[in-house]
Amino acid sequence: MKAKALILDLDGVITDTAKYHYLAWKALADSLGFHFNETDNERLKGVSRMQSFEIILEINGASSHFSEEEKQAFCERKNELYKSFISTMTPADILPGIPELLSRAKAEGVPVAVASVSKNAPAVLSALGLSDSFDYIADARKITKSKPDPEIFLVCADALGVPYADCVGIEDAAAGIEAIHAAGMKSVGIHVAETGLSPDIPLSSTEELANLEL
Ligand code: BG6
Ligand code: MG
Repeated sequence: MKAKALILDLDGVITDTAKYHYLAWKALADSLGFHFNETDNERLKGVSRMQSFEIILEINGASSHFSEEEKQAFCERKNELYKSFISTMTPADILPGIPELLSRAKAEGVPVAVASVSKNAPAVLSALGLSDSFDYIADARKITKSKPDPEIFLVCADALGVPYADCVGIEDAAAGIEAIHAAGMKSVGIHVAETGLSPDIPLSSTEELANLEL
């Protein structure tokens, strides 16, 4: 491996929780009579919970319809549904190619970090049996700017003590690829072709990570 560190997104890279975030937002949007589909959902990937709800409101011309307290309550409702989805997760939900990538990195002494803005990341990693599989897991509660800001990738690289240009970031979201590039890192994009962004290494599936030269 040429990379001196790997920094992985969680939702949609390590496991397919991106679909649960979508289903939970879709249920909330439906209950409010709002339009929301999978194309709209692309804009929510990598974005914090409240910012995601703000995007749904904006799509529906409803940005000023609710108070901060009401918005918090709707976000909490979405999160309760999301938590019910992830409560059934097991190590079998780790996406293909990820165990092989983690084993290769370990064998070659390349540190690996998780860069997820999800406050549910510790619970998801625990359900997957991966809580102790990383050298650093960013604390979403301490990240002040969502992707596409590079903050979370820079925090991970700093924690690992690796220069930004020697890090490879792996993402499934347009905002994530932008964040990796803004951090001065090399990007691997899973399924991001339709977003119009050009990751340094575009992949159609995480399976390709098993043997990929990084
Ligand atoms: C990101 C997801 O990883 O975490 C977003 O891509 C999600 O879809 C964000 O909104 C925040 O997650 P949570 O679990 O804190 O609501
Ligand atoms: Mg993601």
